[in-house]
Amino acid sequence: MSDTRPVQQPTLLSDYRPYPFVINRTRLAFTLDPSATKIRSDLEMTRQGDGDLVLDIGAGVDLRHVAIDGQELADDAWTRTGETLTIPAPAGSFTLTTQSVIDPSANTTCEGLYLSGGMFCTQCEAEGFRHITPYPDRPDVMAPFEVTIHSDLPVLLSNGNPARQEEGLAVWTDPWPKPAYLFALVAGDLRAVSDSFTTMSGNHVDLNVWVRPGDEDRAGFAMESLIKSMKWDEEVYGREYDLEVFNIVAVDDFNMGAMENKGLNIFNSKLVLASPETATDADYERIESVIAHEYFHNWTGNRITCRDWFQLCLKEGLTVFRDQQFTTDLRSAAVKRIEDVLALRARQFREDQGPLAHPVRPESYVEINNFYTATVYEKGAEVIGMLKRLVGDDGYKKALDLYFERHDGDAATIEDWLKVFEDATGRDLGQFKRWYSDAGTPILKMEEDWDDAGKLTLRFTQITPPTPGQSEKPPRVIPIAVGLLSPNGDEVVPTQILEMTESAQEFSIDGLSARPVVSALRGFSAPVILRRDQTAAERAFLLSHDTDPFARWEAGRQLARDTLLAMVNGAAADPEYLDAIGRLLADADADPALLALCLRLPSEEEIAVALSEAGQTPDPDAIHAAREALAAEIASRHERALNSAYRENEVPGPYRPDAESAGKRALRLAALALLNRIDNGARAAELYRSAGNMTERAAALSALIAAQKYEKEVLDFFTEFSHIRLVVDKWFSLQTIAAKPERAVAVAHGLSQHPDFDWKNPNRFRALIGGLTANHAGFHAKDGSGYEFLADWLLKMDEVNPQIAARMSSAFESWARYDGERQARAKAALDRILAAPGLSKNLREMASRIRNAA
Ligand code: TRP
Ligand code: ZN
Repeated sequence: MSDTRPVQQPTLLSDYRPYPFVINRTRLAFTLDPSATKIRSDLEMTRQGDGDLVLDIGAGVDLRHVAIDGQELADDAWTRTGETLTIPAPAGSFTLTTQSVIDPSANTTCEGLYLSGGMFCTQCEAEGFRHITPYPDRPDVMAPFEVTIHSDLPVLLSNGNPARQEEGLAVWTDPWPKPAYLFALVAGDLRAVSDSFTTMSGNHVDLNVWVRPGDEDRAGFAMESLIKSMKWDEEVYGREYDLEVFNIVAVDDFNMGAMENKGLNIFNSKLVLASPETATDADYERIESVIAHEYFHNWTGNRITCRDWFQLCLKEGLTVFRDQQFTTDLRSAAVKRIEDVLALRARQFREDQGPLAHPVRPESYVEINNFYTATVYEKGAEVIGMLKRLVGDDGYKKALDLYFERHDGDAATIEDWLKVFEDATGRDLGQFKRWYSDAGTPILKMEEDWDDAGKLTLRFTQITPPTPGQSEKPPRVIPIAVGLLSPNGDEVVPTQILEMTESAQEFSIDGLSARPVVSALRGFSAPVILRRDQTAAERAFLLSHDTDPFARWEAGRQLARDTLLAMVNGAAADPEYLDAIGRLLADADADPALLALCLRLPSEEEIAVALSEAGQTPDPDAIHAAREALAAEIASRHERALNSAYRENEVPGPYRPDAESAGKRALRLAALALLNRIDNGARAAELYRSAGNMTERAAALSALIAAQKYEKEVLDFFTEFSHIRLVVDKWFSLQTIAAKPERAVAVAHGLSQHPDFDWKNPNRFRALIGGLTANHAGFHAKDGSGYEFLADWLLKMDEVNPQIAARMSSAFESWARYDGERQARAKAALDRILAAPGLSKNLREMASRIRNAA
């Protein structure tokens, strides 16, 4: 629903006012029809304050009748301007009835009520409900819902409990008051994979995962994950499910990952459907964590929701934190932490350091959909991790118990959240709150001072560079986890948390018999950039000896980054680093999953960031060449060890997605990726033929593409999987990501002409366009062809699905990092977008924020 108003009016946190009416009950009746769906809405309301009754209403809603207490209002009794409907309303209690008609078949936005593969489905968060029926579409207006669906389709679902089901009709009642963004409706020819769960107080819950006919055999893992999530939330947070049924539906056309609608979670089908032949280990892990995430929202999001959209991190940061804890408990804590930090740095640090930087709790937005960001989600989760570190596990538990007790049924704020921590622990969180209000990633510098009397002093300074709209950055509370190792590798001082609160601060540790090696920021105890002068030898020491697995990995990562930076500037690979890799490979006790992570080189993007931090202008082609050279060097230096890792980590027997098997496969495939640089694709070709699972096949195909030995396999892969959409998505993305940079734009362009490039499908669009933007040197081609290609597609997508266009535009966010020529070409592409007539407010807000980078 594109909005073409030229002025972009921001919404401000400071403008929040309570809604002057309450809704005691919402009754909706749908008569489904692909092109003319009728909606009758009866809202039982009570006036609480002054003013007219103002409802939100989308442009596509054809409003036919308005009545108060059964009395039809004349057309001139109400006014409709922009997206609002204003009705003079009486005092006291009354029922507002509206009747509207909408056209789901014309709705390409994947927001509101739309069709996906012949199935009706909805997406209402954040402001989609207004495209279905007029309503106070804001999260602090909560009501119990009763929904009647008239349709001949076999499966008719909505929120809550089923109240009546008969031929052509279904009635659902949801007793828990909820905001409109949690409303959902699904209708279609669906099949269920079913199971049940008995809650800790003995309530029986029917569980269903609904999929399209033929997909039933790929829904079992999602169901297992759901049951694990329900159990975990009872055991760890004491949170029980609260309805008779929990439904999950898999939908092919979906803007994001999944949505926590009360009792009726709707998922992107790629986060539900999995079989060994079609999904990778990473897909399985992702499915497990997103199923958990959406389920956990039932308490953190639904029972306790947000007062307004500025408080989005209240539910998202907390729910991400909870799903991270869940994965940590089910799988490997060390591997999970490293994966999360990798993702945080790649997406959130990048955002925090560019023109789109914003606080975890923003104070202004034009389009709220543009604020479902890595900062709100992932940094929001990091902030909670810090809070837990500061108040301890017991303090955290007390605070959370109080949060659920005090705020169940509320639309709450970050102030409410911090207050429960203050009340439960007695701690003043005034300074801590800056993590919510101040954007930007702090740079933490550490220096060491050793006196021969056995005292070690650690001196820290913190500086947060300015971000758009925020030039002053006062110091924050930073929990710095530190441990000390003796020169022989024993831990002499176990992990302790240093609490930094000043701009510059020092901490001393006495009574040491010899100068220790400092392991700092263990477990990545705060989302900061740690800078310390450290020799390659010290890093190599930590990589071999640190008792904190995150810090070990981090030391290796820094070694790799340093040698890559030097290589970009013409140096040879650092022998210290190459030897360290050799020692890692020789360690028979190493955890394969951790070793695999250590063998994964920093991404080209990460090297570009490191170069610009060092004051250099990154050259994407030189970065690509250096990274390839280092990989080849590692492969030739350690060919035998890598070959053993490759051979010995083959997992026998039928495929299982558990962490241990996945870890072995990860090591095997990390070895393959390196060896591929020197064996001319030989192992990859063999693995491609012999592999029985998608994890190995996809990796083998990527390796073949990288080795440019792939024509036949690429064709075969498509033929074999052309009927499975999610695998065809992989086929599109693999080819663009793994393409040689100089060919990447041409490859993407060629694929965009493919008959199966169904670009209106968000997953397909992301596969191809996102594949290209993930190919660093390919996207940043010097001639600007990558930027032009992206701009063309953003403009095209913006006309049908502004949310997807706006999200994808963030590929431009780091344009100011590159050389003048690339900058000029990126700016030209952004200007072309901004000049387009009829641009959505989603894409306009993004492109103008990005364009205004310093
Ligand atoms: N609340 C969802 C989650 O994080 C995400 C979400 C927001 C979403 N807006 C959406 C999902 C639009 C799909 C479409 O769990
Ligand atoms: Zn969420």
